[in-house]
Amino acid sequence: MDLAAAELVIADWIDAQGDERDQLLPLLHHLQREIGYIDDAAIPFIAAAFNLSRADVHGVLTFYHDFRRKPAGRHIVKLCRAESCQARGGAAIEAAASRRLGVAMGETRRDGQISLEPVYCLGLCAIGPNALVDGRPVARIDAAMLDTIAAEVAV
Ligand code: FES
Repeated sequence: MDLAAAELVIADWIDAQGDERDQLLPLLHHLQREIGYIDDAAIPFIAAAFNLSRADVHGVLTFYHDFRRKPAGRHIVKLCRAESCQARGGAAIEAAASRRLGVAMGETRRDGQISLEPVYCLGLCAIGPNALVDGRPVARIDAAMLDTIAAEVAV
């Protein structure tokens, strides 16, 4: 992580928005948008900016699934793990996707090409199991669809 860039983003945010605790979550989202992820090296700067403990910031970062703590792959495939998609075979699709894409759930493939991540309901429950491929919803995932996704994220 480019700590100097992260420090600048944090300082600019504090200047514009203030250092009240309710600004912590918005700052974390902003920092992730700007830098791409938030690794542990940034925690001391964030804690100091808000006069919080490192444990407080670490707790918020790890509580929310949306925060990325390592660089993402060039492509991000998110599979829905919520109830309706699970009832429609989501667990089997997840296992097949992991094999087909060559990456475990929650990980980024070694070549940096693909991150496979969980998501919890995309609002498309009736046509699951569902995924987001680089932010694009994909419904009714099956083996053939996994082949299509694998080809799409190979480039
Ligand atoms: S449960 Fe998967 S889209 Fe709602």
